[in-house]
Amino acid sequence: MTVTLPLPPGPLPGIGVGTWAWGNQFLWGYDPLQDAELEATFRRAVALGLRLFDTADSYGTGRWLGRSEILLGRFCAALPEAERRDLTLATKLAPFPWRLGRGGYAKAFAASRQRLLGRVDRVQLHWSTARYAPWQEGPLLEGLADLVERGEVRELGVSNMGPRRLREAHAQLARRGVRLTSLQVQLSLLALDPLTPDGVAGVCRELGIELIAYSPLALGLLARPEAASAPLPRGPRRLLFQRLRPRLSLLLQGMERVAQVHGADLVAVALNWCRAHGAMPIPGLRRPDQVEAAVAASTWELSLEERDGLDQLARAAAAEGAKMPANPFQSA
Ligand SMILES: NC(=O)c1ccc[n+]([C@@H]2O[C@H](COP(=O)([O-])OP(=O)(O)OC[C@H]3O[C@@H](n4cnc5c(N)ncnc54)[C@H](OP(=O)(O)O)[C@@H]3O)[C@@H](O)[C@H]2O)c1
Repeated sequence: MTVTLPLPPGPLPGIGVGTWAWGNQFLWGYDPLQDAELEATFRRAVALGLRLFDTADSYGTGRWLGRSEILLGRFCAALPEAERRDLTLATKLAPFPWRLGRGGYAKAFAASRQRLLGRVDRVQLHWSTARYAPWQEGPLLEGLADLVERGEVRELGVSNMGPRRLREAHAQLARRGVRLTSLQVQLSLLALDPLTPDGVAGVCRELGIELIAYSPLALGLLARPEAASAPLPRGPRRLLFQRLRPRLSLLLQGMERVAQVHGADLVAVALNWCRAHGAMPIPGLRRPDQVEAAVAASTWELSLEERDGLDQLARAAAAEGAKMPANPFQSA
């Protein structure tokens, strides 16, 4: 069940850029020949006013591990200073089992900062260890707070935390006077959990934490019109598309109706649904035309009726099994 929360006054959240595909061969078929297009994507995003870029130290598969940070750092450094200034480069550090204690992230942070050519604006705990090593997370958070206190990074965020852990993390940081800037969770028309009555969206609103919606297009499922004839993606995403697409007809038709009213496309509807629930979507973008489609969403908003209608269709689709797999590390 989703819950309709009143939005705080002021503009809706903006739109950010996800860079998981920049280096990931396994799921996203990365090839270094794509780098020029990725740079064009980055430049188009900056030119069109997108400001937050999300990466992680675990992005990039095999020998391309860290590639997303390297490319982002390189592209950012090549911008004129005036264009670079108000960007937020946000990385995520993985709480691997060998990263232990208050200093457990020290080397990882230094390595990320090096790959990003000195520029890290926000550091995020990539996932919660509460489900399998609950003692690991507290000291790592202290270490991240140390970085903020020492002025090495401006902002601190967390990811894949549920409402209980989020409250605890917020309280832990508040005891030191360190602000918890953002929470990043999977949130889309096919991933509704954050919006349940006691879900994290309400906690974020209550505590003043920015909510970031990752995989807002459900890995592309919500960007593909029902009648699309293009071949399904290759690799593991194909299995997901084969399983979920037959259960999405009514939802996609509803999204298409909304899109038509606004002269928009499905991508904009999916992103604006996140924004209408108070979350900043960070779609995975790797071509300039995808940036343009994402930015087009910021030129209009869903009405409350449209948002509620899409909520209903999404709940009905979920009841038919049209749900994205939950992140295994997502905590309660
Ligand atoms: N914190 C975490 O644990 C976590 C987990 C997952 C993701 N994330 C972050 O969230 C970001 C976004 O999530 P995601 O990359 O998983 O998936 P996503 O944003 O839900 O979907 C990306 C897919 O959308 C498609 N797409 C984008 N713009 C499009 C357009 N205009 N028209 C048609 N298709 C379009 C892309 O198509 P193409 O395949 O054609 O490029 C790609 O397949 C990631 O990049 C990452 O930064 C964080």
